[in-house]
Amino acid sequence: MSFKIIEPAPARLNRSELAVPGSQPALFEKAARSAADVVFLDLEDAVAPGDKARARENVIAAVDGIDWGRKTLSVRINGLDTHYMYRDVVDVLEQAGERLDLIMIPKVGTPEDVYALDMLATQIEAAKGRKKRVGFELIIETALGMQNVHAIAAASRRNESLHFGVADYAASTRARTTNIGGANPDYTVLTDAAEGGRAVHWGDMWHYATARLVVAARANGLRPVDGPFGDFSDPEGYRAAARRAAALGCEGKWAIHPSQVALANEVMSPSEVEIDKARRIIAAMDEAAKAGKGAVSLDGRLIDYASIRQAEVLVRKAGQIAGG
Ligand code: GLV
Ligand code: MG
Repeated sequence: MSFKIIEPAPARLNRSELAVPGSQPALFEKAARSAADVVFLDLEDAVAPGDKARARENVIAAVDGIDWGRKTLSVRINGLDTHYMYRDVVDVLEQAGERLDLIMIPKVGTPEDVYALDMLATQIEAAKGRKKRVGFELIIETALGMQNVHAIAAASRRNESLHFGVADYAASTRARTTNIGGANPDYTVLTDAAEGGRAVHWGDMWHYATARLVVAARANGLRPVDGPFGDFSDPEGYRAAARRAAALGCEGKWAIHPSQVALANEVMSPSEVEIDKARRIIAAMDEAAKAGKGAVSLDGRLIDYASIRQAEVLVRKAGQIAGG
Protein backbone atom coordinates (compact mmCIF):
# COMPACT_ATOMS: atom_id res chain seq x y z
CA MET A 1 0.00 0.00 0.00
CA SER A 2 0.99 3.61 -0.43
CA PHE A 3 2.15 5.61 2.57
CA LYS A 4 -0.91 7.82 1.89
CA ILE A 5 -3.88 6.54 3.85
CA ILE A 6 -7.27 6.83 2.14
CA GLU A 7 -9.92 8.00 4.61
CA PRO A 8 -13.19 6.25 3.74
CA ALA A 9 -16.43 8.24 3.66
CA PRO A 10 -18.94 7.36 6.41
CA ALA A 11 -20.10 3.79 5.74
CA ARG A 12 -23.62 3.79 4.29
CA LEU A 13 -25.45 1.30 2.17
CA ASN A 14 -25.91 2.85 -1.25
CA ARG A 15 -27.09 -0.08 -3.39
CA SER A 16 -30.24 1.66 -4.57
CA GLU A 17 -30.77 5.41 -4.80
CA LEU A 18 -34.39 6.33 -5.48
CA ALA A 19 -35.14 9.63 -7.24
CA VAL A 20 -38.35 11.38 -6.17
CA PRO A 21 -39.50 14.68 -7.70
CA GLY A 22 -39.80 17.36 -5.02
CA SER A 23 -42.87 18.67 -6.83
CA GLN A 24 -44.78 15.43 -6.16
CA PRO A 25 -45.19 15.13 -2.38
CA ALA A 26 -47.80 12.41 -2.88
CA LEU A 27 -44.90 10.08 -3.71
CA PHE A 28 -42.84 10.81 -0.58
CA GLU A 29 -44.52 8.35 1.82
CA LYS A 30 -44.22 5.53 -0.68
CA ALA A 31 -40.53 6.32 -1.15
CA ALA A 32 -40.03 6.30 2.63
CA ARG A 33 -41.59 2.82 2.83
CA SER A 34 -39.62 1.47 -0.15
CA ALA A 35 -36.57 -0.76 0.14
CA ALA A 36 -34.26 1.95 -1.24
CA ASP A 37 -31.06 2.51 0.72
CA VAL A 38 -30.99 6.19 -0.25
CA VAL A 39 -33.83 8.50 -1.30
CA PHE A 40 -33.10 11.80 -2.98
CA LEU A 41 -35.80 14.42 -3.17
CA ASP A 42 -35.22 16.29 -6.39
CA LEU A 43 -35.32 20.05 -6.83
CA GLU A 44 -33.46 19.93 -10.16
CA ASP A 45 -34.33 18.28 -13.47
CA ALA A 46 -37.59 16.56 -12.46
CA VAL A 47 -39.06 19.92 -11.42
CA ALA A 48 -40.31 22.55 -13.88
CA PRO A 49 -39.08 26.15 -13.39
CA GLY A 50 -42.51 27.31 -12.26
CA ASP A 51 -42.61 24.62 -9.54
CA LYS A 52 -39.19 25.21 -8.01
CA ALA A 53 -40.31 27.30 -5.04
CA ARG A 54 -43.19 25.00 -4.13
CA ALA A 55 -40.98 21.90 -4.51
CA ARG A 56 -38.47 23.46 -2.10
CA GLU A 57 -41.23 23.97 0.47
CA ASN A 58 -42.45 20.39 0.01
CA VAL A 59 -38.97 19.01 0.51
CA ILE A 60 -38.24 21.11 3.60
CA ALA A 61 -41.51 19.98 5.19
CA ALA A 62 -40.85 16.34 4.31
CA VAL A 63 -37.37 16.08 5.82
CA ASP A 64 -38.75 15.96 9.36
CA GLY A 65 -42.43 15.53 8.53
CA ILE A 66 -42.04 12.00 7.18
CA ASP A 67 -40.62 8.96 8.93
CA TRP A 68 -37.74 7.93 6.66
CA GLY A 69 -36.79 5.02 8.88
CA ARG A 70 -33.12 4.08 8.55
CA LYS A 71 -32.79 5.41 5.03
CA THR A 72 -30.19 7.90 3.98
CA LEU A 73 -32.02 11.07 2.96
CA SER A 74 -30.70 13.48 0.36
CA VAL A 75 -31.91 16.56 -1.53
CA ARG A 76 -30.74 17.29 -5.06
CA ILE A 77 -30.24 21.03 -5.43
CA ASN A 78 -30.14 22.94 -8.71
CA GLY A 79 -26.91 23.52 -10.61
CA LEU A 80 -24.41 26.23 -9.78
CA ASP A 81 -25.19 27.97 -13.07
CA THR A 82 -28.78 28.67 -11.99
CA HIS A 83 -30.21 31.26 -9.60
CA TYR A 84 -32.21 28.53 -7.85
CA MET A 85 -29.14 27.01 -6.27
CA TYR A 86 -28.33 29.54 -3.54
CA ARG A 87 -31.93 29.54 -2.34
CA ASP A 88 -32.05 25.73 -2.39
CA VAL A 89 -29.02 25.56 -0.11
CA VAL A 90 -29.98 28.47 2.15
CA ASP A 91 -33.61 27.45 2.60
CA VAL A 92 -32.98 23.72 2.95
CA LEU A 93 -30.12 24.06 5.43
CA GLU A 94 -31.76 26.89 7.38
CA GLN A 95 -35.22 25.36 7.57
CA ALA A 96 -35.06 21.59 7.14
CA GLY A 97 -34.42 19.43 10.19
CA GLU A 98 -31.27 17.53 11.07
CA ARG A 99 -32.73 14.32 9.60
CA LEU A 100 -31.19 15.43 6.30
CA ASP A 101 -28.04 13.43 5.62
CA LEU A 102 -26.80 14.61 2.23
CA ILE A 103 -27.04 17.26 -0.44
CA MET A 104 -26.67 16.08 -4.00
CA ILE A 105 -24.87 18.56 -6.26
CA PRO A 106 -25.54 18.17 -9.99
CA LYS A 107 -23.26 19.00 -12.92
CA VAL A 108 -20.16 19.57 -10.81
CA GLY A 109 -17.47 20.82 -13.17
CA THR A 110 -14.52 21.90 -11.05
CA PRO A 111 -13.24 21.42 -7.49
CA GLU A 112 -14.07 25.09 -6.88
CA ASP A 113 -17.77 24.26 -7.39
CA VAL A 114 -17.55 21.91 -4.42
CA TYR A 115 -15.46 24.39 -2.43
CA ALA A 116 -18.09 27.08 -2.90
CA LEU A 117 -20.88 24.79 -1.70
CA ASP A 118 -18.76 23.64 1.24
CA MET A 119 -18.21 27.26 2.26
CA LEU A 120 -21.92 28.07 2.04
CA ALA A 121 -22.98 24.95 3.92
CA THR A 122 -20.34 25.57 6.61
CA GLN A 123 -21.54 29.13 7.19
CA ILE A 124 -25.21 28.16 7.40
CA GLU A 125 -24.54 25.25 9.72
CA ALA A 126 -22.53 27.51 12.04
CA ALA A 127 -25.10 30.30 11.96
CA LYS A 128 -28.00 27.95 12.66
CA GLY A 129 -26.14 25.79 15.17
CA ARG A 130 -26.76 22.63 13.14
CA LYS A 131 -25.07 19.73 14.87
CA LYS A 132 -24.92 17.27 11.99
CA ARG A 133 -22.58 18.14 9.12
CA VAL A 134 -24.36 17.51 5.84
CA GLY A 135 -22.46 15.31 3.35
CA PHE A 136 -22.17 15.80 -0.40
CA GLU A 137 -23.10 13.49 -3.25
CA LEU A 138 -21.62 14.78 -6.49
CA ILE A 139 -23.01 14.03 -9.94
CA ILE A 140 -20.36 13.81 -12.64
CA GLU A 141 -22.34 14.44 -15.81
CA THR A 142 -20.45 16.89 -17.97
CA ALA A 143 -17.27 16.68 -20.01
CA LEU A 144 -15.75 19.28 -17.67
CA GLY A 145 -16.69 17.29 -14.58
CA MET A 146 -15.29 14.09 -16.06
CA GLN A 147 -12.06 15.86 -16.99
CA ASN A 148 -11.68 17.17 -13.42
CA VAL A 149 -13.17 14.21 -11.61
CA HIS A 150 -10.07 13.40 -9.59
CA ALA A 151 -9.69 16.93 -8.18
CA ILE A 152 -13.45 17.14 -7.60
CA ALA A 153 -13.42 13.91 -5.60
CA ALA A 154 -10.75 15.37 -3.32
CA ALA A 155 -12.31 18.82 -2.98
CA SER A 156 -14.13 18.52 0.35
CA ARG A 157 -14.25 16.43 3.53
CA ARG A 158 -18.04 16.46 3.03
CA ASN A 159 -17.77 14.38 -0.17
CA GLU A 160 -19.27 10.90 0.19
CA SER A 161 -20.06 9.63 -3.28
CA LEU A 162 -19.67 10.22 -7.02
CA HIS A 163 -22.61 9.50 -9.34
CA PHE A 164 -22.47 8.98 -13.08
CA GLY A 165 -25.24 11.10 -14.62
CA VAL A 166 -25.41 9.37 -17.96
CA ALA A 167 -28.16 11.52 -19.53
CA ASP A 168 -26.53 14.88 -19.01
CA TYR A 169 -23.13 13.35 -19.77
CA ALA A 170 -24.43 12.22 -23.16
CA ALA A 171 -25.74 15.72 -23.80
CA SER A 172 -22.53 17.38 -22.70
CA THR A 173 -20.28 15.13 -24.77
CA ARG A 174 -22.76 15.27 -27.69
CA ALA A 175 -23.00 11.50 -27.76
CA ARG A 176 -25.36 10.35 -30.53
CA THR A 177 -28.10 8.93 -28.36
CA THR A 178 -31.29 10.11 -26.72
CA ASN A 179 -31.58 7.06 -24.43
CA ILE A 180 -30.87 7.37 -20.72
CA GLY A 181 -28.11 4.79 -20.23
CA GLY A 182 -28.10 1.24 -21.55
CA ALA A 183 -26.84 -0.22 -24.80
CA ASN A 184 -26.52 1.63 -28.09
CA PRO A 185 -26.97 -0.25 -31.41
CA ASP A 186 -24.41 2.11 -32.97
CA TYR A 187 -21.74 1.13 -30.47
CA THR A 188 -20.80 -2.21 -31.93
CA VAL A 189 -17.89 -4.03 -33.52
CA LEU A 190 -18.43 -5.96 -36.74
CA THR A 191 -16.11 -8.93 -36.87
CA ASP A 192 -13.86 -9.33 -39.91
CA ALA A 193 -15.56 -10.92 -42.94
CA ALA A 194 -12.28 -12.61 -43.83
CA GLU A 195 -12.50 -14.61 -40.58
CA GLY A 196 -15.51 -16.54 -41.86
CA GLY A 197 -18.86 -14.86 -41.35
CA ARG A 198 -19.68 -11.59 -39.70
CA ALA A 199 -20.92 -11.11 -36.17
CA VAL A 200 -22.01 -7.97 -34.36
CA HIS A 201 -20.61 -7.51 -30.85
CA TRP A 202 -22.28 -4.93 -28.69
CA GLY A 203 -19.99 -2.74 -26.63
CA ASP A 204 -20.63 -0.57 -23.58
CA MET A 205 -20.30 3.05 -24.64
CA TRP A 206 -20.27 4.16 -20.96
CA HIS A 207 -17.30 2.02 -20.01
CA TYR A 208 -14.63 4.71 -19.98
CA ALA A 209 -16.73 7.20 -18.04
CA THR A 210 -17.83 4.65 -15.44
CA ALA A 211 -14.35 3.23 -14.97
CA ARG A 212 -12.80 6.70 -14.64
CA LEU A 213 -15.40 7.72 -12.07
CA VAL A 214 -14.84 4.53 -10.06
CA VAL A 215 -11.09 5.17 -9.89
CA ALA A 216 -11.56 8.80 -8.78
CA ALA A 217 -14.09 7.78 -6.15
CA ARG A 218 -12.13 4.87 -4.71
CA ALA A 219 -8.83 6.79 -4.68
CA ASN A 220 -10.55 9.30 -2.41
CA GLY A 221 -12.53 6.92 -0.21
CA LEU A 222 -15.88 7.76 -1.86
CA ARG A 223 -18.69 5.48 -3.07
CA PRO A 224 -19.02 5.22 -6.86
CA VAL A 225 -22.68 5.00 -7.87
CA ASP A 226 -24.07 4.38 -11.34
CA GLY A 227 -26.82 6.75 -12.48
CA PRO A 228 -30.18 6.32 -14.18
CA PHE A 229 -31.50 3.71 -16.61
CA GLY A 230 -34.44 5.34 -18.34
CA ASP A 231 -36.39 2.36 -19.70
CA PHE A 232 -38.23 1.25 -16.57
CA SER A 233 -40.17 -1.34 -18.57
CA ASP A 234 -36.92 -3.26 -19.21
CA PRO A 235 -35.79 -4.94 -15.97
CA GLU A 236 -33.34 -7.22 -17.80
CA GLY A 237 -31.68 -4.23 -19.45
CA TYR A 238 -31.47 -2.55 -16.04
CA ARG A 239 -29.96 -5.65 -14.44
CA ALA A 240 -27.34 -5.94 -17.19
CA ALA A 241 -26.38 -2.26 -16.83
CA ALA A 242 -26.19 -2.60 -13.03
CA ARG A 243 -24.08 -5.76 -13.29
CA ARG A 244 -21.62 -4.00 -15.61
CA ALA A 245 -21.34 -1.10 -13.18
CA ALA A 246 -20.89 -3.46 -10.22
CA ALA A 247 -18.24 -5.41 -12.13
CA LEU A 248 -16.23 -2.20 -12.44
CA GLY A 249 -16.59 -1.33 -8.73
CA CYS A 250 -19.80 0.72 -8.43
CA GLU A 251 -21.66 -0.07 -5.25
CA GLY A 252 -25.05 1.23 -6.24
CA LYS A 253 -27.33 2.43 -8.99
CA TRP A 254 -30.12 4.95 -9.24
CA ALA A 255 -33.75 3.95 -9.46
CA ILE A 256 -35.81 6.45 -11.43
CA HIS A 257 -38.87 4.24 -10.86
CA PRO A 258 -39.79 2.31 -7.69
CA SER A 259 -39.67 -0.99 -9.62
CA GLN A 260 -35.91 -0.52 -10.09
CA VAL A 261 -35.15 -0.47 -6.34
CA ALA A 262 -35.39 -4.24 -5.88
CA LEU A 263 -33.29 -4.80 -9.03
CA ALA A 264 -30.53 -2.52 -7.73
CA ASN A 265 -30.56 -4.12 -4.27
CA GLU A 266 -30.41 -7.57 -5.83
CA VAL A 267 -27.51 -6.84 -8.19
CA MET A 268 -25.53 -4.72 -5.73
CA SER A 269 -25.66 -7.29 -2.91
CA PRO A 270 -23.10 -10.12 -3.06
CA SER A 271 -24.82 -13.48 -3.63
CA GLU A 272 -24.59 -16.44 -1.21
CA VAL A 273 -22.30 -18.20 -3.68
CA GLU A 274 -19.92 -15.20 -3.84
CA ILE A 275 -19.89 -14.81 -0.05
CA ASP A 276 -19.25 -18.52 0.44
CA LYS A 277 -16.36 -18.45 -2.03
CA ALA A 278 -14.91 -15.35 -0.34
CA ARG A 279 -15.03 -17.08 3.05
CA ARG A 280 -13.34 -20.17 1.61
CA ILE A 281 -10.57 -18.00 0.14
CA ILE A 282 -9.95 -16.36 3.51
CA ALA A 283 -9.93 -19.75 5.25
CA ALA A 284 -7.61 -21.29 2.66
CA MET A 285 -5.18 -18.38 2.94
CA ASP A 286 -5.29 -18.68 6.72
CA GLU A 287 -4.19 -22.30 6.40
CA ALA A 288 -1.54 -21.27 3.85
CA ALA A 289 -0.13 -18.65 6.21
CA LYS A 290 0.09 -21.22 9.02
CA ALA A 291 2.03 -23.49 6.66
CA GLY A 292 4.32 -20.58 5.76
CA LYS A 293 3.01 -20.29 2.18
CA GLY A 294 2.06 -17.06 0.37
CA ALA A 295 0.07 -18.58 -2.46
CA VAL A 296 -1.97 -21.77 -2.77
CA SER A 297 -4.54 -23.21 -5.11
CA LEU A 298 -8.28 -23.30 -4.44
CA ASP A 299 -10.70 -25.03 -6.84
CA GLY A 300 -7.81 -25.35 -9.32
CA ARG A 301 -6.99 -21.60 -9.29
CA LEU A 302 -4.18 -19.61 -7.77
CA ILE A 303 -4.99 -17.46 -4.76
CA ASP A 304 -2.61 -15.20 -2.84
CA TYR A 305 -2.65 -12.27 -0.41
CA ALA A 306 -4.42 -10.05 -2.98
CA SER A 307 -7.20 -12.65 -3.05
CA ILE A 308 -7.71 -12.09 0.67
CA ARG A 309 -8.23 -8.37 0.08
CA GLN A 310 -10.70 -9.08 -2.74
CA ALA A 311 -12.56 -11.58 -0.56
CA GLU A 312 -12.65 -9.21 2.40
CA VAL A 313 -14.41 -6.56 0.29
CA LEU A 314 -17.27 -9.01 -0.31
CA VAL A 315 -17.43 -10.27 3.25
CA ARG A 316 -17.43 -6.70 4.64
CA LYS A 317 -20.24 -5.74 2.25
CA ALA A 318 -22.29 -8.77 3.32
CA GLY A 319 -21.81 -7.76 6.95
CA GLN A 320 -22.89 -4.20 6.21
CA ILE A 321 -26.06 -5.45 4.48
CA ALA A 322 -26.84 -7.87 7.31
CA GLY A 323 -26.41 -5.02 9.80
CA GLY A 324 -29.00 -3.12 7.83
C1 GLV B 1 -28.70 12.45 -14.07
O1 GLV B 1 -28.86 13.49 -13.51
C2 GLV B 1 -28.41 12.35 -15.44
O2 GLV B 1 -28.28 13.39 -16.10
O3 GLV B 1 -28.29 11.20 -15.94
MG1 MG C 1 -28.52 15.15 -14.84
